[in-house]
Amino acid sequence: MHDISQYQDFFIEYLKKQNIQKEPKNLYEPIEYILGLGGKRIRPVLTLMAAEVFDADYKAALPAAMAVEVFHNFSLVHDDIMDDAPLRRGQVTVHEKWDLNTGILSGDAMLILAYQYFEQYEPEVFRDLAKLFSKTALEVCEGQQWDVDFEERNNVKVSEYLKMIEYKTAVLVAAAMKMGAIVAKASEKEADLIYEFGLNLGIAFQLQDDYLDAFGDPETFGKQVGGDIIENKKTYLYLRALKLATPEKGAELQYLYGLELEDNTKKIEASKAIFNESGASKSTQEAIEMYTFKAFETLDKMDISTEKKDILRTFGENLMGRKV
Ligand code: IPE
Ligand code: IPE
Ligand code: MG
Ligand code: MG
Ligand code: MG
Repeated sequence: MHDISQYQDFFIEYLKKQNIQKEPKNLYEPIEYILGLGGKRIRPVLTLMAAEVFDADYKAALPAAMAVEVFHNFSLVHDDIMDDAPLRRGQVTVHEKWDLNTGILSGDAMLILAYQYFEQYEPEVFRDLAKLFSKTALEVCEGQQWDVDFEERNNVKVSEYLKMIEYKTAVLVAAAMKMGAIVAKASEKEADLIYEFGLNLGIAFQLQDDYLDAFGDPETFGKQVGGDIIENKKTYLYLRALKLATPEKGAELQYLYGLELEDNTKKIEASKAIFNESGASKSTQEAIEMYTFKAFETLDKMDISTEKKDILRTFGENLMGRKV
């Protein structure tokens, strides 16, 4: 096994060797742009890591890791359109730098490019990867639709929210890991366990994403801080605040989320204050820990060395401490 920063380096080196730039340039330039903006590369690292957990060479998992990262970046390009987001990884979003149509079509092309990476595998592995990927990609779409539907709803339950984030985010983290297991030809039992590990880690990851969206440092966060509040996203912070706040503060929060404003500064400030004073921020932190520890429990069921479990655990612990 290698450490996390090594997997990152292996992946970036592979990514750089890909020849994506072709004509027409208005289709391919945005793809190079978004893939080149960096990001944490969490999903491809997990694919490479999972392959080595099950005793394959990480190199065999590079095309699958690339498929996952390209798909993830496709989902971000379309997500930024849907969320009306101006910033991604500290730079202008694709649909703002180019335009809406470019964002749509370059995104579509990335989804197809992602699939093409599976063609490098032998038929049986190809089939298993493609099957998992199709199921996952459809679930991401379902999660994204719920996320958007919830913007307009005032009666979203925490259970519905948890299902939504499982679909829009966690299933891809889980699938990224299971792909490594598939490439390594791990047993179905082990592949399912690593999926379960990834799923709980992914839920914790999205809870943290919601938290950082409100409380991240604008200097380093790379996205518009308060974007979820502007878009009336029914995040864990929001839903817990409605439960925990006094009736007056709860009503204020609902009122704020009904406003359509030119300048959202006050709405963001007031919502964040309610998140904090109600205890919703703390409750979100606790949920992040809870799902991370739930992921660690799955490790106990796995038939892999302690050293490997430690590497996976360290990865989860690092994610909890992330600021971007
Ligand atoms: C952002 O994912 C979208 C979510 C599912 C929360 P990341 O936080 O992994 O984004 P990058 O790739 O590191 O920029
Ligand atoms: C994104 O959720 C999930 C997908 C891209 C599928 P968010 O909308 O919270 O992600 P960010 O915060 O824009 O990265
Ligand atoms: Mg978004
Ligand atoms: Mg979104
Ligand atoms: Mg977010």
